[in-house]
Amino acid sequence: MIRPNFTRSQVGDLAIYEEHVQHMLKLIPENGRTVDLQELFFKLTMDTATKFLFGTSVNSLVKEKAHKDSDRFTDAFTYVTEEMAKDFRSIRWRKDKKRQADGQFIKDFADGIVADALARQDDIETGGIDKKQDYVFLYELLKTTRDPYTLRSETLNVLLAGRDTTASLLAHTFFVLARRRDIWDKLHEEVAQLQDKAPDYEQLKQMKYVRWVLNESLRLFPVVPSNARIAMNDTVLPVGGGDDEKSPVFVPKGTLVTYTVWSMHRRKDLWGEDAEEFKPERWQSARPGWEYLPFNGGPRICIGEFAIFDADS
Ligand code: HEM
Repeated sequence: MIRPNFTRSQVGDLAIYEEHVQHMLKLIPENGRTVDLQELFFKLTMDTATKFLFGTSVNSLVKEKAHKDSDRFTDAFTYVTEEMAKDFRSIRWRKDKKRQADGQFIKDFADGIVADALARQDDIETGGIDKKQDYVFLYELLKTTRDPYTLRSETLNVLLAGRDTTASLLAHTFFVLARRRDIWDKLHEEVAQLQDKAPDYEQLKQMKYVRWVLNESLRLFPVVPSNARIAMNDTVLPVGGGDDEKSPVFVPKGTLVTYTVWSMHRRKDLWGEDAEEFKPERWQSARPGWEYLPFNGGPRICIGEFAIFDADS
């Protein structure tokens, strides 16, 4: 249902990000004072994701422009997802009144936006509103369904999929950049070729070193570090069985197979003796298959981020 919403022309509209990036840059002290970038990245992706999904940003980075429930929504979303992640890791489900209340707040907030869009559907269909933004995910979904529950669920699902992942990638990458002047300098050299102009989609794709750095960040700090699949049918994994782990493994229907991407991305037999090292240059020749799984189903497939990573890696 949502795949058609991720075509190149839709995700390639970079103008929607620029305004929010500028808001974030304003919050970075110019006097060299320490700043928590991670917090800013999570606000940045909340602002861009809500703009992309709902057509209105919560604007958590700008006090004067912020939506009235902006802070509450951002805090609630962060609390609920963090607590859910803790439960997920420890395989239990705790009762938590705050989580329930925050979850309800998130749903009510999204329901309000969905109700508003449904009420204005005629205007949306005739293109009578929001001329500034060509593409709004919710408005596109309205072409396939008018069911408020589906609309809320799909938008919140993509908010989760797109917000934390992107913010985490940025935070991990800057964690490394703050410690690796050599990489910072090379990145700077490539970015300087833009001569202070924002890149368009095609230029962004041509920026090899930027891509290598992001690929390497996702290798050593995969944002979804472990995952699982359930076999829908009896099947066989080609290797991993027997004493030498090179024989096939039978996987009966219904089996839960978990895998840790974090460990796999650091395996020396797959990535070489320098597997633990942050080395963007390895992407000059690396053409990984299933041994690189930061996204949904392989290096090129996740519908959210293929826009940047599909070029030639
Ligand atoms: C660095 C950024 C990102 C990373 C590392 C990432 C990673 C992933 C991973 C690992 C999955 C698979 C989850 C699973 O099936 O078990 C996934 C699925 C998904 N991602 Fe991304 N993602 C990123 C950005 C985005 C963005 C920006 C969006 C949307 C705007 C997005 C939308 C989705 C959706 C909708 C799915 C579910 C697809 C399906 O069910 O087939 N992702 N992503």
